[in-house]
Amino acid sequence: MHYVRFLRAPKVAPGRGNRLQIQLLFTITTDLGDSFLFPQKLLDLQVTASASSSIGTSTWLLSDPGRLYWEPGMRVAKPTLDLPVAFERAIQAGVRIQICVRASEPSQHADGAAKILAIASEKPRYRKEATRMGAIVPAWISLNLSGGDTEVSMRRLQLSDSPTGFGYVEVEEEIGESIARHVWDAGVVALCAIAGIDTAPENESSKHPCMVALNQLLGSREAINVLELGCGVGILGVGLGAVYPKLSQGQCTILMTDLEEAEARARSNIARLQPKTLESEEPQVRMLYENLDWEDGRQGRFGKEAESRAWDLVMLSDCTYNVDMLPALVETLSAIHSSNLKQVLGEPFTTKVFLATKPRHASERELFELMEKEGWETLHKQVLQLPVLGAEPESVEFYLFDKSSLIDESR
Ligand SMILES: C[S@@+](CC[C@H](N)C(=O)[O-])C[C@H]1O[C@@H](n2cnc3c(N)ncnc32)[C@H](O)[C@@H]1O
Repeated sequence: MHYVRFLRAPKVAPGRGNRLQIQLLFTITTDLGDSFLFPQKLLDLQVTASASSSIGTSTWLLSDPGRLYWEPGMRVAKPTLDLPVAFERAIQAGVRIQICVRASEPSQHADGAAKILAIASEKPRYRKEATRMGAIVPAWISLNLSGGDTEVSMRRLQLSDSPTGFGYVEVEEEIGESIARHVWDAGVVALCAIAGIDTAPENESSKHPCMVALNQLLGSREAINVLELGCGVGILGVGLGAVYPKLSQGQCTILMTDLEEAEARARSNIARLQPKTLESEEPQVRMLYENLDWEDGRQGRFGKEAESRAWDLVMLSDCTYNVDMLPALVETLSAIHSSNLKQVLGEPFTTKVFLATKPRHASERELFELMEKEGWETLHKQVLQLPVLGAEPESVEFYLFDKSSLIDESR
């Protein structure tokens, strides 16, 4: 997929006739930021502004259709747009305003689980068709007129179209050129597939044995403990927190972990998730964060939360691209299994691992040899083909591994 990425905060300044104008600076790249969107023809973009107050939300279209294009070969867009008078008034009234850049054509606008699942497929498409099909994930950014620097933009993923569904999940990520602290394809697509179990049961992904097994695991227990490794900004963990109440009546604890530098953003995104639910005395989903470096994890050194319970499910997305880190990662998974066995005091226990990855190079296959050596069994593999606008299709793979107490005892 491609992502709209703000490179700096929007600037508002007087233009012609002293009317206010807004200047944006953004690009459209892949998740790794290694290639810019190169559409076959001009791609029409839309910029909207929404003002939210206690009486509701007003939305203005800031660029009329046909006014703003992403052209083949472009690397950045720097449009200056006139602001409607009503919008100027909203700014003057100090109302919270968000700007959104998206593809105008709905089929190219990847704003929700249903849309992303609809373009992903288990069967490869003809190349010609696939290069026309990919989608662009929109970005939102708050207008900060107080002079302070805006450091973050938002991704907002509609998880369900139904009024009784679980709405959308919003995560903030860093703006600018940095490739760190933002969402990646594997986490986004994994969340869409998990949301689809409830909202799109007829989709081929929801019927795949991998999703069926995940649904059984999440839905069949009174309480489940989920530990996420390398959570980044938290799209998968926070997203699961939003989806879980639709999959189960039980209680769920989700502990998201990463390196210290990821902590602030991950905590902030936990706080964005249904604040009322999280603050209630007995929330159905408890979301926690704790630092966990795999160099510590592989030695069995865990923080207070990570060693406080047995983890039924360990999950991770897009954490296997750095081959040098694979031994530490796999040994951390095994150390979590050993810690689980200590928690259950000799009772049989099976640790399951859900892993989502967008394979980027052949050397990543080493992961599977390491997992096998450590006694992890591959239960299911699911592959979703992901068309990319103007480029070769890519794929996202999901794996469900498990390791039981018997295997650990025999080692
Ligand atoms: C490509 S990002 C994926 C983030 C997130 N899972 C997602 O899908 O958006 C890889 C993540 O692995 C984390 N990571 C890398 N090395 C790590 C280590 N030694 N211990 C813990 N986390 C690590 C990074 O900080 C980063 O957040």
